[in-house]
Amino acid sequence: MSESYANLLVRQEGRVGIVQLHRPQALNALSGDLMDELIRALQAFDADDSIGCIVVTGSEKAFAAGADIKQMAGASVVEMMSSPFIGYWDAVQKVSKPIVAAVSGYCLGGGCELAMTCDLIVASDTAQFGQPEINLGIIPGAGGTQRLTRAVGKSVAMDMVLTGRRISAQEALAFGLVSRVFPAQSFLDDSIALAAEIADKAPVALRVAKEAVNRAFESTLAEGVLFERRAFNLLFATEDQKEGMAAFVEKRKPDWKGK
Ligand code: CAA
Repeated sequence: MSESYANLLVRQEGRVGIVQLHRPQALNALSGDLMDELIRALQAFDADDSIGCIVVTGSEKAFAAGADIKQMAGASVVEMMSSPFIGYWDAVQKVSKPIVAAVSGYCLGGGCELAMTCDLIVASDTAQFGQPEINLGIIPGAGGTQRLTRAVGKSVAMDMVLTGRRISAQEALAFGLVSRVFPAQSFLDDSIALAAEIADKAPVALRVAKEAVNRAFESTLAEGVLFERRAFNLLFATEDQKEGMAAFVEKRKPDWKGK
């Protein structure tokens, strides 16, 4: 990727695109500039056929300590309403390739909301998740009250949102907020290996699978099942379906074309 960023480190490993939030002086607090760059980096990977899966990560100490409080502190209601800021989280959700949030250290407020907007969250055993906005006299504003509740259920979400308490990686695993916890020493390599495993699958099926799982959050069961059935049938029009099933029968590895 040729573009350079002030608040990100961006690289590619095999078919995995890696976006590392890099604002160490502010524990990766999510400023408008950082979020704008993040969306541009994600969209560039989304448009790049050599990328199958994206990892969004931070530093060992902080995935992100939330939206930038210093930037928001003096804002008026009208400024907040007309700001593009919260829309950046919607833009993350529009990326069609799978995004793994690889979380180490603090993952708070808008940072936790960013992780939850990705498709799955994996954590280092040092990760801490929280929605501490209540301590600032506000509430989560980038989907936290909704996505956290869907992920962990009402009681845990209320506990976190009303008290602002932070939960550990192990608690997050037990509550279903994260899918895997890796040791801190190998966490980024382990996260990239997981993304590489995903990136190796049939590209069209990956996109459709992501859409279908996300549909579960936006529809009734009957509508979701109908969507899934249509999508399932549609995949029989792809070369990859023919290749995947032929490879199984011939006992060989499939050679995906993304068609
Ligand atoms: N915004 C702006 N700056 C931040 C920040 C944030 N969210 N979080 C940390 N920083 C800055 C600190 O101000 C500090 O900068 P200075 O050295 O210039 O003072 C630097 O990062 C290091 O932070 P600390 O000295 O506080 O580090 P610590 O290790 O003592 O504490 C922490 C770490 C517990 C994460 C603490 O920094 C903290 O509580 N941060 C705020 C967390 C928070 O409230 N997040 C929610 C933000 S609101 C939001 O996200 C709204 C939304 O839903 C979109």
